[in-house]
Amino acid sequence: MKFAIVGCGYVADFYMSTLPNHAQLELTGFFDRNPERAQRFADFHHVRRYESLEQLLQDPSVDLVANLTNPKSHFEVSMAALRAGKHVYSEKPLALNLADAQALADYATAQKLLLAGAPCNVLGESAQTIWKALRKQTIGTPRLVYAELDDGPVPYFNYKTWISESGAPWPYIDEFEVGCTFEHAGYWLGMLAAFFGPAKRITSFSHVLMQDKQVPLTMASAPDFAVASIEYTSGVVARITCSIYATHDHRLRIFGDGGTLSTDACWHYGSPVYSSVRTPLKMRLENRYPKLGRLAGLGPKKVPLVRPASFRSSKGHNHMDFCRGMAEMADSLKENRPCRLSAAWSLHVNELVFAMQHPEQYGASHDMTSSFEVMAPMPWAK
Ligand SMILES: NC(=O)c1ccc[n+]([C@@H]2O[C@H](COP(=O)([O-])OP(=O)(O)OC[C@H]3O[C@@H](n4cnc5c(N)ncnc54)[C@H](O)[C@@H]3O)[C@@H](O)[C@H]2O)c1
Repeated sequence: MKFAIVGCGYVADFYMSTLPNHAQLELTGFFDRNPERAQRFADFHHVRRYESLEQLLQDPSVDLVANLTNPKSHFEVSMAALRAGKHVYSEKPLALNLADAQALADYATAQKLLLAGAPCNVLGESAQTIWKALRKQTIGTPRLVYAELDDGPVPYFNYKTWISESGAPWPYIDEFEVGCTFEHAGYWLGMLAAFFGPAKRITSFSHVLMQDKQVPLTMASAPDFAVASIEYTSGVVARITCSIYATHDHRLRIFGDGGTLSTDACWHYGSPVYSSVRTPLKMRLENRYPKLGRLAGLGPKKVPLVRPASFRSSKGHNHMDFCRGMAEMADSLKENRPCRLSAAWSLHVNELVFAMQHPEQYGASHDMTSSFEVMAPMPWAK
């Protein structure tokens, strides 16, 4: 499938470095409204540069547009691409509010076009391993999830020195204005949606801990802390926390009647997965003697990944395969089957993210309006 990129900033290099993983994807070129940035990217990657968005959208060879612009441009660029008859893979979030995200999903569905939203870590080896363990009832009935997305105290980091391979600076102003929850909550929420199905209700709280981020923002800082509890229709309850203030913590823990599944990283597609047994006796003993599990060899054991995570990963940025979502779209078209990253799934994840970051807009207790068809596991994880 031929695709073109719109927006060639910090993240676009990660797409370029993971593109060789997917022979089914062919890049026709890119457009960026910042001519200087565009020239640098073209010189570094030796790819065709379109002179305008219109020129790119009028290219009949382009099947899909990868919208890698800043979140403030997502709706406008994705809608223009859909109107031009292109499938769209959008970086997160799909739009800045639910009405716009819904409009994109509705339009794509009506036109029989694919619309998928990043991230695609649900298609990763760790996620698929956890999901398979859940399906096999490794931990019995899962009831409770704790998902952490604390990125560390980013405002204190040396982020002005973070530069991508082709020389794009990390867009810190945009990141602070858009907010860590819009930027990152989808990494866990996408996975949890696949594992546990649609959510019924989300109860959330968000706050700006640091109004002054020591950089001149063009608008108020977005919440830099958000916490939400989610009730899934399947009965599972999850608590997810996002911040750029607390110490770095990207753990996922799923507690079931018979055990616990966990992993320590959501941006690492091959992050090791652990399981440990929970029996009433063990829980009582561990409560009384916390070190007993370790001493008696009853602690967490590694669950072998469903396949080795041996892909080419994004350079200098964790261990992710940024192009895997688009490859899934291409494969679904070729195999004439539903795309795992459906517009409905993406919209549902986005609705959770919007409600989590902005309870003042969507209600501290928000009844979900969107839903989606169950996603199929990857063929290599069945
Ligand atoms: N920065 C990261 O580490 C990271 C990681 C994963 C995902 N993302 C996501 O990727 C997206 C882009 O982030 P980034 O860090 O690359 O931002 P960036 O600011 O570095 O790059 C965005 C680029 O899009 C261009 N652009 C914006 N609006 C445009 C429009 N209407 N038409 C054409 N070009 C336009 C800008 O000129 C800029 O070059 C965001 O949605 C972000 O959430 C970022």
